[in-house]
Amino acid sequence: MNYETILVRTEADKVGIITLNRPKQLNALSDQLMDELGHALKAFDADEKIGCIILTGSEKAFAAGADIPGMAKYSFVDAYKGDFITRNWETIRSVRKPVIGAVSGFALGGGCELAMMCDFIIAADNAKFGQPEIKLGVIPGAGGTQRLPRAVGKSKTMDMVLTGRMMDATEAERAGLVSRVVPLDKLMEEALGAALTIADLSQVAAMAAKESVNRAFESTLSDGLMFERRLFHGLFATEDQKEGMDAFLNKRKPIFKNR
Ligand code: HXC
Repeated sequence: MNYETILVRTEADKVGIITLNRPKQLNALSDQLMDELGHALKAFDADEKIGCIILTGSEKAFAAGADIPGMAKYSFVDAYKGDFITRNWETIRSVRKPVIGAVSGFALGGGCELAMMCDFIIAADNAKFGQPEIKLGVIPGAGGTQRLPRAVGKSKTMDMVLTGRMMDATEAERAGLVSRVVPLDKLMEEALGAALTIADLSQVAAMAAKESVNRAFESTLSDGLMFERRLFHGLFATEDQKEGMDAFLNKRKPIFKNR
């Protein structure tokens, strides 16, 4: 597939990098962009060699939200019958390999929601997060009212969603929305470092770890603990577990075969 709104490349044959690329619109998330993003994510997820995916934007904007001209004229019936935002918006959720959001500049509205669908966010020091939909007379529609409180709690979420104000990278890290903040010119280096670290580990263990952490947001503690234990036990059936523990015992670097 020829992409027009995203750039796709690999690093060291094991990290997939997707760059949102609608610079004139600050990477506003059009239907075409979301379709292409979904396609690229699925392709990397299915590629046996790829162990981690990075999703990033430009220095000025990760993404400034859903495409406002595209949705400005929607009626309720258009939005409801067309199931606005279902179209490929949840694809990133179905990706089983780890996805790192490398965010610089604006991550607003759907852009903030897209970043929150990543497994973790590394932010540049110029990153700004926000859910400004209220200023457009609507509310977040792709998880902003659901994922943000899980990340930063109720009070800050209400503040963000009700006032539409932005939060800078320092505040986002303090609140737990992002895992690391680095200088802008170090963003990709930092994200790539993390992605290569993950890609060199056991793919099956990384996928299980992701699945288990995500389960914490969907289940009671007892159910989540049981789910984790079952996956943990299951990993003893892998060659990678034998390799990882043998390497430790023999003081050597493990070579995981993803089996
Ligand atoms: C389409 C957008 C856009 C958007 C910016 N642009 N955001 N186009 N959709 N969401 C365009 C502008 O129209 C402008 O194009 C160009 O990008 C540069 O933007 P400026 O406003 O000139 O830049 P600046 O002054 O630096 O301000 C940056 C900004 C501002 C603070 C990010 O653009 C802004 O507030 N954008 C809207 C953010 C927003 O409300 N997002 C939520 C959308 S609703 P021209 O052609 O004029 O130069 C949403 C709902 C999600 O996301 C629901 C689930 C899918």
